[in-house]
Amino acid sequence: MALPATPTREFITGLPKAELHLHLEGTLEPDLKLRLAQRNGVDIGQSTVEEVRATYAFDSLTSFLAVYYPAMEVLQTADDFFELADAYLARAAADGVKHVEMFFDPQAHTSRGVPFETVVTGYHRAAAGASEKHGVDAHLILCFLRDMSAESAAETLEASVPFRDRILGVGLDSDDRGNPPEKFADVFARARELGYRLTMHCDIDQPGSIDNIRTVLDEIGVDRVDHGTNVVEDPALVAVVRERGLGLTCCPVSNSFVTDDMKAAEIAGLLRDGVRVTVNSDDPAYFGGYVADNYVALAESAGLTTAEVVTLARNSFEASWLGDSQRAAYLAQVDGYVAAYAASSD
Ligand code: ADE
Ligand code: ZN
Repeated sequence: MALPATPTREFITGLPKAELHLHLEGTLEPDLKLRLAQRNGVDIGQSTVEEVRATYAFDSLTSFLAVYYPAMEVLQTADDFFELADAYLARAAADGVKHVEMFFDPQAHTSRGVPFETVVTGYHRAAAGASEKHGVDAHLILCFLRDMSAESAAETLEASVPFRDRILGVGLDSDDRGNPPEKFADVFARARELGYRLTMHCDIDQPGSIDNIRTVLDEIGVDRVDHGTNVVEDPALVAVVRERGLGLTCCPVSNSFVTDDMKAAEIAGLLRDGVRVTVNSDDPAYFGGYVADNYVALAESAGLTTAEVVTLARNSFEASWLGDSQRAAYLAQVDGYVAAYAASSD
């Protein structure tokens, strides 16, 4: 009964996994963007897929966001949001994703006149049908834009209340600079009262990344941290994250676009230290890598063993917001896959 010592792409692709850090708006592939622009009569300034792809160029979080938000103007109707999410779910299924908790940015749409209800209706239709259509159990996380005001976040939170049963939790994304977690402490406290699970981005190598990680752990009381890799700067905080069993949703390929490196050594170091590290794709259409590509890139760069890759997949379910019995069922699927793979390699 032997597994390959080094994980192959084929092994990684078939491994059952959860994706916990995925922005639906970050799955807008150039061909879909062009098709939606033509359908909705939006002039995006390009007329071929190659021209659109050429605009997907950046070297920092700020320059990425400057491409990302304007691209969303092609998303107008509930059908558009449905198609975006449905295409991602089909692609994720092909990478072995069984469970996904997907971010969406309502303020990026309501601020340009698209009603909250339109956004949720389209995304929810895709999520609700994904189990039967793609074999993926899909859920939504509402993200507030941290470069907008706390009042706007609070209004968005109240707008979500009629759709409470369609949304699993809330997160915080966009530009960290000058927008620390404490700006949203009251909004997140109210979200907790409403029964939402809580997560926040603590992006890579931003000014104050480590202070933000401390705040989300000590003051906000998040259930998970998005990115959070800079925790390596403070061993005492690493111990807190490990002891609480908090998930870190790392995104290696994305890291190499918004900083100068994938942070493979840091992510692998945390994994080997017993921290609940997970691997995710963030904005796969923009960074050119879906979740299996992220596992492969990290495994190659950090020299992960097959057993460590299996731990990453197990962590993805452990750090998810699944109920206990569903989590146990997915973990059994991971074990079953590994056992069958080992048996077939004999
Ligand atoms: N919005 C989409 N992707 C993001 C990221 N990686 N960081 C912050 N905000 C985002
Ligand atoms: Zn993100």
